[in-house]
Amino acid sequence: MNIKSQIQASKVPTHIAVIMDGNGRWAKKQGKARVFGHKNGVKSVREIIETSAEIGVRYLTLYAFSTENWNRPKLEVKTLMSLLVSSLKKELASLQKNNVKLQTIGNLKHLPVKAQKEISEVTAKTKNNSKITLTLALSYGAREEIVQAIQKISKKVVNNALNIKEIDEKIINNHLYTFTLPDVDLLIRTSGEKRISNFLLWQIAYAELYFTEVLWPDFRKEHLYQAIVEYQNRERRFGKTSEQIKNKNE
Ligand code: IPE
Ligand code: IPE
Ligand code: MG
Repeated sequence: MNIKSQIQASKVPTHIAVIMDGNGRWAKKQGKARVFGHKNGVKSVREIIETSAEIGVRYLTLYAFSTENWNRPKLEVKTLMSLLVSSLKKELASLQKNNVKLQTIGNLKHLPVKAQKEISEVTAKTKNNSKITLTLALSYGAREEIVQAIQKISKKVVNNALNIKEIDEKIINNHLYTFTLPDVDLLIRTSGEKRISNFLLWQIAYAELYFTEVLWPDFRKEHLYQAIVEYQNRERRFGKTSEQIKNKNE
């Protein structure tokens, strides 16, 4: 049976997040420079956006550049930034065609002005699209996100705009970069690494984790289907017992 037909439409994850890893190793395997892997990773990005939209995923969040990635060799960082700009330019038409709304999370201040401009342009042009929300994590770190949330909340407390007793999970959630997004249902990491690398620490509290050996530039729609089928075969208990989950009235 083909893998796509195994997907149950009623149980498609609402929010998928992906740690797109393995570009450098993919290039190295073919004796090429790491940036060749990044360039080829863009094709996977396009296919995964289109496929996600097509099967009814409402939110797709892609980890494109971490706060820690700034510590990579200067030339690699520079190439990644120009690749970001050229990809945004090139992909705009396809985002429109597929009704994709683009937004970003992260500390964009650190990005080159050219990249910031391109991001605001594509964000503005796609803001009314409604099939899927694509969130690019750029210069993103979950710890930094939590720090800035605490700073904003503290400021409100100091200014008497908020009472300490009012601080709850919802308030914290509303001060994260991801305040418009639901929790992550399925987190995918490619390339065989089994770590979170400072991605969405708060938002993955109850996400199903899926690790695959496939390197990001090789990741195709069949791999996404595979991840979704495995997700659908898991029992998400949220602390309850299996019996409670099976008998939904309890
Ligand atoms: C992921 O691939 C892309 C970014 C982190 C920007 P890597 O560049 O981390 O590739 P590997 O892990 O070195 O193979
Ligand atoms: C995580 O990948 C960041 C992105 C995919 C953008 P890394 O390759 O930077 O992660 P580590 O350093 O190996 O954990
Ligand atoms: Mg890596």
